[in-house]
Amino acid sequence: MAAGTEAGYCIRCVRCGAEPDDRTAYLYRCPGCGGILDAVYDLAGRSGPAQLFGGGPGLWEFRALLPLPPDAAPLSLGEGGTPLLDASHLTPDYGDVQILLKLEMLNPTGSFKDRAAAVGVARARQVGASALVLSSTGNAGAAAAAYGARAGLPVVVLVPAAMPAESLAQIAAYGARIVRVAGDVSGPFHLARAAAAQLGWVNLATTYESPYPTEGDKTAGYEIARQLGWQVPDWIVVPVGAGPLLYACWKAFTELRALGAVDRLPRMAAVQASGCAPLYRAWRARQDEVTAWESVDTIAKGIADPLRGYPDDGTFTLRTVRRSGGAVVAVTDGEILRARDDLARRAGIFAEPTGAVPLAGLARMNEERIITAGQKVVLLVTGSGLKGQFPPVPEAPLLTGGVPELARFGQPE
Ligand SMILES: Cc1ncc(COP(=O)(O)O)c(C=O)c1O
Repeated sequence: MAAGTEAGYCIRCVRCGAEPDDRTAYLYRCPGCGGILDAVYDLAGRSGPAQLFGGGPGLWEFRALLPLPPDAAPLSLGEGGTPLLDASHLTPDYGDVQILLKLEMLNPTGSFKDRAAAVGVARARQVGASALVLSSTGNAGAAAAAYGARAGLPVVVLVPAAMPAESLAQIAAYGARIVRVAGDVSGPFHLARAAAAQLGWVNLATTYESPYPTEGDKTAGYEIARQLGWQVPDWIVVPVGAGPLLYACWKAFTELRALGAVDRLPRMAAVQASGCAPLYRAWRARQDEVTAWESVDTIAKGIADPLRGYPDDGTFTLRTVRRSGGAVVAVTDGEILRARDDLARRAGIFAEPTGAVPLAGLARMNEERIITAGQKVVLLVTGSGLKGQFPPVPEAPLLTGGVPELARFGQPE
C-alpha cells in the first residue's frame, strides 16, 4: 500500500504487482509492464458496510471504497440507487429460478455507464485535466458528456467515420464535441490514447484502460448485496463487451467478503452476442487467451466490441468468470429481441437490445442446464430502450365506431 494510503487504497498492476503513485495523476495501464491496473483497499480491521457506507451524493455513499483522495470533491448527477425488481413471473420460460432485475437503465443518462463516469470525471477534475476524451458510439460517450458538462470540462467524443448521426444525438445534446475518425472502432480508441498522452486530456475509456471507471461500476455490486439483505445471489448475469462491469460486480463481493458482510461469492455469467463473441469462442475452446473478433454483426451495440488492440481485456474478464465458477453464453439477435419484447410486455421494463441480453442469456443458461431450480439470479439491465433502436410501431387503427368499437381493444391479445 505505498501510494494513496491516506485514502486507504493503492493502485496495483494485476500482472506484475507494481504500485504506481496516483495521488496527482490519472493512471492508465501499468507504466512498467502495460498490465491492467486495479484499485486495492486496505480492508483489514475496517468496520462493516453499515458503518462504512452512507452519505452521498449518488454513488459517493460508497466513497470509503472508491479511489478519490480525501480532499477531492465528488461529482454526481444522482447515479446509483437503482431498483432490484423481482420478475420471477417470467418463469418458467427462463428457468424455474428467482429472477431479479437490476435496473441500471434508470441511471441519469439511461445506462450503468454513469457510475463509471461519476468516478472517472471526479478523478479527472481532481488531477486538473483540461479536457476529457474517449472513443464511444453510445452509452459511455453520453455518460462522459453529461458528467463533463456537470464538471464544466470540455468533452471530445471520437467516433468511427461511418457512425449515423442519430446514434450521436444524446452525446451532442450535452454539448460534447463529436469528431469522426477514419476507419473502424480501433481508430478512435487509439487516437483517444494518443490525445491523453500528448495533450494532457484525460481518456475516459471504459474498458480496463484505467482503474477509475471500473471502480464506479463496482458500486452496482454493493447495491445488489445490500438490496438482498447481504445475501449473495447464485448468479449475476452481465452483458459483456470487454467486461469491466462483470469484473467490478464480482470484485464488490470479494471486498464485502473481506469486510465480513457476505460469506461467499456469486457465480458470474458473461453473455455475448453471437455476432461478436470473442470471450465465448475462447470459453468453448477451453482457451485461456481471448483473441480479437474479426467481423462484428449484432444489434447489441453496447457489447459489439471486437477487442481489437486490447484482447487481454477479454482474457482478464474470462479469468474472472472462471474464478467465480461462472459461465459464458452467446445469444443471437433474434433471442435478444425476443427478450427485449418480453421485458417490456411482461415486466414493464423497456431496455435497449443490449440491456435485454442477460434475459436472453438466462434462457440459454436454462437450456444448457447451467442454472438449477430455485436459484436466485440477478440480471443487469444495463441500458434504456429510450436510447433508440426502437421496436416497430404497429399501425394504429382510426376509430370510427365510438366506445362500442373501442371496447374490443381492451381485450387481452
Ligand atoms: C448497455 C450496455 N450494456 C453492457 C455494456 C458492456 O459493458 P462492458 O464494457 O463492461 O463489457 C455496455 C458497454 O458499452 C453497454 O452500453
